[in-house]
Amino acid sequence: MAAYASTNPLARESLRVAVVGHVDHGKSTLVGRLLHDTGSLPQGKVEAIRAMSERRGMPFEWAFLMDALQAERDQGITIDTSQIWFKTANRDYVIIDAPGHKEFLKNMITGAAASDAALLVIDAEEGVKEQSRRHGYLLHLLGVRQVAVAVNKMDLVGYGEARFAAIEKEYRAYLAGIGVAPTYIIPIAARDGQNIVAPGERMPWYTGPHVLEALERFEVVTLPTHLPLRMPVQDVYKFDERRIVAGRIESGKLKVGDKVLFSPSNKVTRVKTIEAWAATTPVEAQAGESVGITLDEQIFVERGEIMSHEQNGPIETDVFRARLFWLGKVPLTEGARYKLKLASAEAIVRVQAIERAIDTGDLSSAAATEVKHSAVAEVILQADRMVALDEFVNSPLTGRFVLVDGYDIAGGGIASMEGYADQRQLITVRASNVKRVEHSISIGARARRNGHRGGVIWLTGLSGSGKSTLSIALERRLFDLGFQVYVLDGDNMRHGLSADLGFSPEERAENIRRVGEVAALMSRAGMVVITAFISPYRSDRDRARRAAGENFHEVYVSADLATCEARDPKGLYKKARAGEIADFTGISAPYEVPQHPEVAIDTGLLDVEAAVDRLVAYARQVLTVMTGQESRSAIR
Ligand code: ADX
Repeated sequence: MAAYASTNPLARESLRVAVVGHVDHGKSTLVGRLLHDTGSLPQGKVEAIRAMSERRGMPFEWAFLMDALQAERDQGITIDTSQIWFKTANRDYVIIDAPGHKEFLKNMITGAAASDAALLVIDAEEGVKEQSRRHGYLLHLLGVRQVAVAVNKMDLVGYGEARFAAIEKEYRAYLAGIGVAPTYIIPIAARDGQNIVAPGERMPWYTGPHVLEALERFEVVTLPTHLPLRMPVQDVYKFDERRIVAGRIESGKLKVGDKVLFSPSNKVTRVKTIEAWAATTPVEAQAGESVGITLDEQIFVERGEIMSHEQNGPIETDVFRARLFWLGKVPLTEGARYKLKLASAEAIVRVQAIERAIDTGDLSSAAATEVKHSAVAEVILQADRMVALDEFVNSPLTGRFVLVDGYDIAGGGIASMEGYADQRQLITVRASNVKRVEHSISIGARARRNGHRGGVIWLTGLSGSGKSTLSIALERRLFDLGFQVYVLDGDNMRHGLSADLGFSPEERAENIRRVGEVAALMSRAGMVVITAFISPYRSDRDRARRAAGENFHEVYVSADLATCEARDPKGLYKKARAGEIADFTGISAPYEVPQHPEVAIDTGLLDVEAAVDRLVAYARQVLTVMTGQESRSAIR
């Protein structure tokens, strides 16, 4: 049994079960029966409803009972009206009723829908319908691994084994396709109480557990103390001199004295105290607990950050891959912007690409330019700032998010970093006690002597797009025109300064960081630097741009993949297609097209000379210093 987070040894364990399924498939009846048969209903409740039905001349329905309970809850001041409790000798149960997809998604970020297990109801007569498939898909997205499928209304199919076997086979195959292995598939007749809390005598051919038994076998997993520490910061309160950082520990454990990291601000300090609502201040806290902490140093942190241990932090990135369930009235489109909510953080994201749309019915996938209501898609999202997140497979609670369109929750999804780099290393400064030295020669003085400004002409594009050829030809022409010019080339750099780096997303990011810094230094020294690197990630190029400041000129060398592959100057595409090179840009690694390059050159349309002409014209226009006799004559 998984650890129970309460510090009170007498507290009972409680298992959270999401019940999903179409109303007509008997969800309410099943829940009503579970409550009734476990003796969890208020005394006389069922009798009262029976009497009322009789008075109105209607046959008793368990759904009436559920409606009545719902109405009572709605009147009361309960925190969450969609939760119902029952208990067994063993433990407590919280039933999370998921009325619709939308509610489910909404609850995703608040954690209200976080459940240990799911009970999925299917109608034996109707079989596996589109909606059952969608429900299965949502469970998969939400990361629920303990799933019991109840095939209801077996009475309507004569308690037949063959009918059950057919449904079981079909649904198992579907769920297997999305990586869900149902733990139990149980034939039931909720109305007759068959296989609910006792073996169903009408179905002697079924030897598996009944519903309650299946639930009793599931484990509590919603309090993951074994995962790395994650505490999204809900608020920071100021009490006299102290600042209290408040939040709920979603996973892991925390002790006084621990070295903690806040992301994405990337700040590190120690935990001084843990404040709790109890009279005594604890020295430890763990998943499931809401705490306030004070820190050793007065660092500025705010709502939205994720606190972790220093050594095991979340990923920091401004771009990630997502599997998304879309419920927006308006379809999701490439280029559209939405508000991302992840844990307690918010950011604006732009849909950089829709990689494929997945039909939740038959699981086929296809290229798409928009994602319609109730469809699933794999997309690349680009945030307007650095965000902290986890890959869903590693840390579900900080690896899922919702997208808000206007005021509506329009979609929910899970994050993956496949093909993208954790950018934390790139923005971490390890040196301390360092200061900058002021130069005595101004940038202007250097420019006046050279007759031109320093600058970085940054060529980006696929391998084989013509970056190296163009850069060498451009260097020659600019040199002949009197420019101080030098080419930094990808292949050359990788023999020296970047010899320790391969082609993983992280290594490419580091490669470009180094090149960007070197190019910026050289441009400040007055040189014109031409760089020829694939530089496939937008964030990396933007970082290089920030390093060089206003003298950065991005040139998109825009031959498309088919053209580059046909050229294949080094035979690398052939090898990549044969699976001999991993992470090959354009084939098995992403290339992010520049959004606003200063110059775009299609080498499929322009020959080398025409392309260089354009670049020379551009360079003269932006780099030439037009004052002073000498400088004018220096640039012919
Ligand atoms: S970058 O992605 O980090 O910018 P860079 O421009 O330095 O790449 O190096 C690209 C060159 O390395 C290519 O022109 C090609 O010759 C070679 N190369 C080797 N492996 C790969 C790979 N997996 N993907 C892309 N280029 C590769």
